Amino acid sequence: MDVFDAIRGRRSHRAFEQKSVEPEKVDLILEAAQWAPSPANSQPWEFIVITGKAPRSRIASISEEAGRTGSIEIHGYSYVRPAPYASDDTSADELSHETSRYSLAFLESVPVMIAVVGNPDTVVQQSSARKSREGYKYACAAAIQNMLLAAQAQGLGSLWFTYFDAGALSRFLNVPEDKHLIALVCVGYPGSTPQSPGRSSLKQKVRRMD
Ligand SMILES: Cc1cc2nc3c(=O)[nH]c(=O)nc-3n(C[C@H](O)[C@H](O)[C@H](O)COP(=O)(O)O)c2cc1C
Repeated sequence: MDVFDAIRGRRSHRAFEQKSVEPEKVDLILEAAQWAPSPANSQPWEFIVITGKAPRSRIASISEEAGRTGSIEIHGYSYVRPAPYASDDTSADELSHETSRYSLAFLESVPVMIAVVGNPDTVVQQSSARKSREGYKYACAAAIQNMLLAAQAQGLGSLWFTYFDAGALSRFLNVPEDKHLIALVCVGYPGSTPQSPGRSSLKQKVRRMD
């Protein structure tokens, strides 16, 4: 698949077929993550591949509990619902209808979850010049995007999921305190065809200096 087709065609999936994903496809997703850029090639990421029904159900219940109690703590990023971009032809009514449909029930049916864990210390130790403690997050984000595109290129749907209580989920996944749970990448065969939430026009986002 052409890279632009993968980029444009990728959508966030919140419904999956109850069909397992071939381990080779999961391996390619992990390899794509490994090839992401990182500060001084520090590769400040680790992955936990979760396919068992019991841990997936537990993760779903931890997220649902967090949603009920509002205890979402995700390293400075507060995610509530997918917000469709107001493209020129989308009315306010349609937008509120779209956002009201978000439910965490789909988590129970995600065939593969890949927890992405960031290691701040890797970057600090390896980059001699500017010892940024933020670099690992950018690198993990690049790795995640590679994973989503690798899923798309293999006919799989994916979701970058962060709506969880990072403390509770890190304890469940045995993530040590000096590492940070960045996201859960949900992967599976698409159970529906999500509509594109659109994007704002490039004109609003680009400034050129000739
Ligand atoms: C950092 C980040 C966190 C996100 N967290 C969630 C999440 O917790 N739940 C969810 O359903 N979607 C989540 N998303 C997906 C966005 O809602 C989605 O990318 C956006 O609405 C655009 O839709 P698209 O991916 O189909 O183009 C997240 C995306 C990013 C980049």
